[in-house]
Amino acid sequence: MNKTPRVCVWHVQGDTYRDALRERLPDAPIEAINAATHETGEAVLSAPDSRPGADHAASLIADALSSAEILLAWKVPPGTLTNMSALRWVQVTGAGVDHFLESTELPATVLVTRSLGRFGIQISEYVVGYLLHHLIGINTYREKQRSHEWARNERPLLADRTVGIIGLGSLGLPTATALTTLGARVLGVRHSGLAVPGIDDVFSATSWRNMLPACDALVIAAPKTVETVGMIDHGALDALPEGTILINISRGELIDEDALLEALESGHLGAAVLDVFDTEPLPEDHPLWDQSRAWITPHIAAPSEIEVIADEFANNYRRYVAGDPLLNAVDRGRGY
Ligand code: GLV
Repeated sequence: MNKTPRVCVWHVQGDTYRDALRERLPDAPIEAINAATHETGEAVLSAPDSRPGADHAASLIADALSSAEILLAWKVPPGTLTNMSALRWVQVTGAGVDHFLESTELPATVLVTRSLGRFGIQISEYVVGYLLHHLIGINTYREKQRSHEWARNERPLLADRTVGIIGLGSLGLPTATALTTLGARVLGVRHSGLAVPGIDDVFSATSWRNMLPACDALVIAAPKTVETVGMIDHGALDALPEGTILINISRGELIDEDALLEALESGHLGAAVLDVFDTEPLPEDHPLWDQSRAWITPHIAAPSEIEVIADEFANNYRRYVAGDPLLNAVDRGRGY
């Protein structure tokens, strides 16, 4: 085992990540490549000031890639991994690793780890925030304020509601805990269907549709895998009670977008709070933008915090050098 394996950071905030890692791992050789966007990961070809332009930058990138044993990245564009012949381990800066696992360029022997960040807390705040916003009717009161209208609406309580959560892992579980603390009845779905303390009823990969008729709100927090893509289809949406609030913080592909649009247009769904989409950024002319029951956020439900991710990565790097098992390793067969 090389005692100082080379690291390549590839990220929109590549330089900041590199500096945070160098503070934590002063002896590790770490190079950074800055990406232009989160969505494609396309590299910015910028060379240090004193060096000549793009050609030089391209050769620096090629060197950083070919010598790196370890990659820390959110997303890299196609063609990148094929230039990383020394690669042994990828740590993804986010929770979902689907885009790496789907790449035909990632050799089967390369280890993949994901980050935990504070994603569980962030997601739980996002979900609770949007649920309370809808139940209290914050938006309606804001509108009434504009017309100086003193008018009361019904005030349903979260404590009287049932929330179904698909995916009871590091994102879904903290959300479940937050909701039960507020008195909501929580149902959940996990692959095995095995019980989870504090959750009223847990459904499995085969029985999950039975949960839907009981849900006043449905939260999608499962990873994107071959099993989960398209799972929220016409049938699943129809099985939800009229007026259900759907919240997706996982991946757009888990929901059939056409079926979703229909369910919103007909009013069968009360609202859809959507942080993720089939295509990101959501195209400017996408019908979801103008759908009044859709609440759109630009994939911000759980942002990666550099200091937190750098701590996690440094810890795993030390384990890697020591030959210890890495934390948050992904089972590539299972897909998460
Ligand atoms: C964000 O989508 C993540 O997977 O962390």
